Amino acid sequence: MITIENRWALVTGASRGVGFRVAQALASKGAKVILHSRSKSGTAELLQQLRLKGCTVEQVEGDLKDAKALDSVIEDVKKITDGKLDILYNNAAIMTTYRDIYTVTVDEYQSSFMVNCVAPAKLCDAFVPGMLERNFGRIVNVTSGISDQPQLMAYSCSKAALDRYVRDMLPTLADSDVLMNLMDPGWLRTDLGGEKAPNDPDSVLPGALVPVLLDQKEGSGQLYCAQDYRVD
Ligand SMILES: NC(=O)c1ccc[n+]([C@@H]2O[C@H](COP(=O)([O-])OP(=O)(O)OC[C@H]3O[C@@H](n4cnc5c(N)ncnc54)[C@H](OP(=O)(O)O)[C@@H]3O)[C@@H](O)[C@H]2O)c1
Repeated sequence: MITIENRWALVTGASRGVGFRVAQALASKGAKVILHSRSKSGTAELLQQLRLKGCTVEQVEGDLKDAKALDSVIEDVKKITDGKLDILYNNAAIMTTYRDIYTVTVDEYQSSFMVNCVAPAKLCDAFVPGMLERNFGRIVNVTSGISDQPQLMAYSCSKAALDRYVRDMLPTLADSDVLMNLMDPGWLRTDLGGEKAPNDPDSVLPGALVPVLLDQKEGSGQLYCAQDYRVD
């Protein structure tokens, strides 16, 4: 297990749910954390709470559906970190409305792919080259175990595309200390998961941090299921 003290970490979708908890956990391990959500107001309370504890915390904002906003998130993170992001936690996602099969709209496919796959991929494009140059990086792409639910096809296809992104990056990352892995939090009672989910959002820890704290020898391309690590 590595230490992440003073490492710069970006957590997308840090205003609530999984991202909120991951950001807190990274800060408690001494990382310098950049909180992202669509608006800085979403992470203002967490920012204040963590700063009161003495943590180094910054915020960025941007709707990841929007290519210009995505670019500005990337630029802001580069400014904050002097281009040296160490940990990229691609967590933000949207799930479209549960629809009758065959009725998922083009707009739902487009927005789901943009937020859930294109934005994480472009964030990787922006920061992985620097990580490789410095030979350190931890990238966690949050995926989903969703299956056999064609009513949520836009969501599940966008997550499948993200899984594929990770797989096809493996040769590029081979032999480096830049690790890219997937994390499935399990079905949680968050805004996205809904109230019928069996798991408390807090159960995502400590598992959600496992792919951040890996030693180089653990490698890339694995799926970490947070519920496998839960402590009840
Ligand atoms: N909950 C589950 O059961 C479950 C299961 C499997 C996988 N997951 C995955 O776990 C991750 C976190 O899910 P969650 O349950 O914590 O979700 P959540 O509670 O709904 O939180 C979603 C986060 O993403 C941000 N976000 C939403 N739309 C955005 C957009 N257009 N642009 C930028 N940021 C946006 C939100 O920020 P603001 O709204 O404040 O801007 C919020 O911080 C996601 O990748 C999800 O697919 C969740």
